[in-house]
Amino acid sequence: MKLFDVYPLQPIAIAHAHGAWVWDEQGNKYLDMYGGHAVISIGHTHPHYIKRLTEQLGKIGFYSNSVHLRIQEELAEKLGDLSGKPHFQLFLCNSGAEANENALKLASFHTGRKKVLAFRGAFHGRTSLAVAATDNPKIVAPVNQADHIIFAPFNDETGLETVFSEQGEEIAAVIVEGIQGVGGINEASVAFLKKIRQLCDAWGAVYIADGIQCGYGRSGTFFSHDYCGVDADIYTTAKGMGNGFPVGGVWAGPQFRPWHGMLGTTFGGNPLACAAALAVAEVMESESLMQNAAETGTYLMTKLKACSGIKEVRGRGLMIGIDLTAEKSDLRKRLLHKGRVFTGEAKPNVVRLLPSLALTRTEADYFLEKFYESFQD
Ligand SMILES: Cc1ncc(COP(=O)(O)O)c(C=O)c1O
Repeated sequence: MKLFDVYPLQPIAIAHAHGAWVWDEQGNKYLDMYGGHAVISIGHTHPHYIKRLTEQLGKIGFYSNSVHLRIQEELAEKLGDLSGKPHFQLFLCNSGAEANENALKLASFHTGRKKVLAFRGAFHGRTSLAVAATDNPKIVAPVNQADHIIFAPFNDETGLETVFSEQGEEIAAVIVEGIQGVGGINEASVAFLKKIRQLCDAWGAVYIADGIQCGYGRSGTFFSHDYCGVDADIYTTAKGMGNGFPVGGVWAGPQFRPWHGMLGTTFGGNPLACAAALAVAEVMESESLMQNAAETGTYLMTKLKACSGIKEVRGRGLMIGIDLTAEKSDLRKRLLHKGRVFTGEAKPNVVRLLPSLALTRTEADYFLEKFYESFQD
């Protein structure tokens, strides 16, 4: 059987990895400024991660959510402390799309309403509701088309007020990324997020903060939404949560009352996933990775902003977009094949940097050197 060919692949086969580095089958070494799409949060093959997962595998790999799994409680406790949101409730699932799907469902159960407000440039996943709330018609199949999703312009408070004044009583949820990732590293303004909070309070809608790419310490605080100084009602996480082990989370505020069967999953919250997430949280804490993301990110952005010829440098912490002019559109390719540096992209010409939160200053300098070389080529 052949693989279902849905991914445009780089002609590189990765064989092993460590920290911020990966090696291909020929032994060539690459700096990973992509983190496997914002997933590698504490670095590849971190010894504590390997130890925690190996130990857990020796105890029990899986049991269902029909019994007490103490490690889930341990994880919820740890994440409450690490994020400064100990009063939230954690529902564990397996991916980002699944987290958003459940968050939207929870908001709809809670309000008894159906409409969802999402924004231009948004990406929330590929399952039915999540993809319907994603601003990319190409990946929305006819079966996913929903007339209860409203799209409004991003960072436009007036547009937001107009939608609420016309349909406020029907809106179950507003879902927003703190920094749009796939959309090209566009940060939500403080005023915009505050306006979402205000309108959700006024109209009884649920504010969902999609922290799947921009959250989990990447921006320098636990959630990038935290910069605006107001809480969301629900946060969603995945990607960096398990450093590659599939794990996602819905963080529901205390106002949400669960009932048995309201949400559910077979694999979500399994002991191995919890061990991976706990290992990540422990390393984030012991190695002060949020602080490192803030500092190394600021360093990189300051250097990149000083480089003339770049259209714009956007982002926060270690979620950085380098917006290039059309003539430089093949820079990412040069960086990969000549500089041996992996980066991400956003259309049309944005290089996305989503490295491990443990990226060192030396590694940042190595990236800058390779970037300047490719830029001048
Ligand atoms: C902001 C955001 N939300 C949701 C998702 C979907 O996550 P997953 O691919 O784990 O389903 C992504 C993935 O890129 C994302 O960037």
